[in-house]
Amino acid sequence: MNSEKLYIGLMSGTSIDAIDTALVSFKDDKASVLAFYEHAIPSSVQVAISGLCQPGNNEIDRAGELDQCLGILFADAALSLMNKEGLAASAIYGIGSHGQTIRHRPNASHPFTLQIGNPSVIAYQTGITTVADFRAKDMAAGGQGAPLVPAFHQYQFYDKGFSRGILNIGGIANLSCLCDGASQNLSGFDTGPGNTLMDYWIHKHLNKAFDNNGDWARSGQLNAHLLEEFLTHGYFSRRPPKSTGREEFSPTWLESVLCKHPALPTEDVQRTLCELTARSIGDAVCRHLSSGSEVLLCGGGSKNQFLAGRLTDLLKNYSLGTTKKLGIDVDAVEAAAFAWLAHRTLASLTGSCRGVTGAQRDTVLGGIYPPG
Ligand SMILES: Nc1ncnc2c1ncn2[C@@H]1O[C@H](COP(=O)(O)OP(=O)(O)OP(=O)(O)O)[C@@H](O)[C@H]1O
Ligand SMILES: [Mg+2]
Repeated sequence: MNSEKLYIGLMSGTSIDAIDTALVSFKDDKASVLAFYEHAIPSSVQVAISGLCQPGNNEIDRAGELDQCLGILFADAALSLMNKEGLAASAIYGIGSHGQTIRHRPNASHPFTLQIGNPSVIAYQTGITTVADFRAKDMAAGGQGAPLVPAFHQYQFYDKGFSRGILNIGGIANLSCLCDGASQNLSGFDTGPGNTLMDYWIHKHLNKAFDNNGDWARSGQLNAHLLEEFLTHGYFSRRPPKSTGREEFSPTWLESVLCKHPALPTEDVQRTLCELTARSIGDAVCRHLSSGSEVLLCGGGSKNQFLAGRLTDLLKNYSLGTTKKLGIDVDAVEAAAFAWLAHRTLASLTGSCRGVTGAQRDTVLGGIYPPG
């Protein structure tokens, strides 16, 4: 592979906060993030996405239009980054676009996952070959289609002789365990909610997009009964391979638990939701990574100081840090992962890890959309 090729990775996760846009090169078997930019998502589009994340009326028309609209927005994100960096389309070898998940049902009788943001539009508008729809091939091979990032985490952050976890705290949180010595040295799965329920709750009560630094959670009291009830959710006791989304950890689920606790102060609920994220992550780390391992955080939730503090308390036998330590800013890891997946696909190399997703085999992921 030509070591100088540049790629753009586009990621918009379950938080629907922004389109993470990374300019990435691959040299000496490592990714370098050369530039990173967060492209805003207009609030009307955020509302349209959220509306499609739960079953509702007239979904085909709404999803069709949003698919086009997001294709244009993803193309704008790539073009804005190129404009900032003074790069022409000819300088970019490929775009890897995750798309916006509007449904993830790995346990349906016909399992499926749906990411929208039309890649033909991205390819046409940018003039750059675009790779997208990464999850479908893994599902075709019998896998969960998620999480896909552990393979990138291993490529980027694995050091021989060293046991390390990479913990991405997005809307949903996922853990990759990069361990030495075992026959299968990569495992990974979604641990459960990251920010999604905390974001929902603070938006409902304080009309804020997120709980900055976890300050609102910090002001509340932990309710142990409520926490135990949250932790009875069947997802936590399921064994990997497993993946989840806003379908399982939805506002509907949260409200159905909370209606049994009608008098709770809203800040106590936020405090307890923060503890749910910390506890479910902490339990997963303790079960899957040996004591003394390093755990590097990334994703927006790693900037929640109160949550990070709770993780430090719960994981006293581990050494906590962030991916910044290994050269990638916490916000850029997931977008870099999709640039890497595009790089793999355009070189006809596999991008998935069957040990993580439960697929029958590793596969070359995604569809390739030429600019034409
Ligand atoms: N300073 C902060 N304090 C508290 N929470 C923060 C802060 N900055 C970001 N966040 C949280 O991080 C979220 C965004 O994180 P991120 O973009 O990693 O998630 P995502 O879009 O769901 O991505 P993915 O699905 O790829 O993991 C915000 O919605 C917010 O909850
Ligand atoms: Mg995001």
